[in-house]
Amino acid sequence: MPRHVAIVMDGNGRWAKKRFLPRFVGHKQGVDALVDTVRACADRGIEYLTVFAFSSENWKRPEEEVSGLMGLVLMAVSRYLAKLAREGVRIHIVGDREAVSEQVRAAWDQAESSTAHNTRITLSVAFNYGGRWDVVQACRRAMVDGVPPEQLTEERLGSYMALSDAPDLDLFIRTGGEVRISNFLLWQSAYSELHFTDCLWPDFGEAELDVALTSYAARERRFGGIQGAAPQTAAALPAG
Ligand code: FPP
Repeated sequence: MPRHVAIVMDGNGRWAKKRFLPRFVGHKQGVDALVDTVRACADRGIEYLTVFAFSSENWKRPEEEVSGLMGLVLMAVSRYLAKLAREGVRIHIVGDREAVSEQVRAAWDQAESSTAHNTRITLSVAFNYGGRWDVVQACRRAMVDGVPPEQLTEERLGSYMALSDAPDLDLFIRTGGEVRISNFLLWQSAYSELHFTDCLWPDFGEAELDVALTSYAARERRFGGIQGAAPQTAAALPAG
């Protein structure tokens, strides 16, 4: 079982279009799918779930859709926060909060503070997040802290990245049929297993999660090594 799963929740618009409904209805249905998926992950012992709810590039969408998605945050927090808190979910928001309205920021603050003591599963919601933004903000913070270049190791820079308190990402899922990472967890997905499905996000549920978990269980994770071979150190290898 993976400890840390991330999902690009794609396909809300197409789900709505297929039903001759406005795109917003697809996003609203997407929130329900998310709540069900958090529960299903917690039931299976997954400790960390990270989802892409709004990318740094989603500002390019029509104003109506962007404000609809912001409104959905407020709706989701007022409708589901108490329930998720009771079920042991710790909510954590990752992304650039500067550009979002004060109302949305306040909703996220409330979601984080009222679930901070929970330990069953950590739900990290990437909102106004981009993988490249994450690398840049980590470098900036390391520079502000005065980390000398020769001390900027992968571990040290990793400690400034979003999700630094979570274990490495094990399984990266994308719904909606596209086979790309779309600037999601670029640093954190270095050795994660990838799973792509045509299922549109509002249709995602326990059955689809289990398909992804079964596929993950069959993977051989080598992290760049060879199965059965003892790891070497570069210094121990013959020159050349
Ligand atoms: C991609 O589908 C989905 C999004 C840009 C938004 C995802 C958001 C949610 C599921 C709601 C979660 C919200 C909160 C408050 C946590 P798309 O619109 O690109 O679909 P399409 O590819 O079919 O057009």
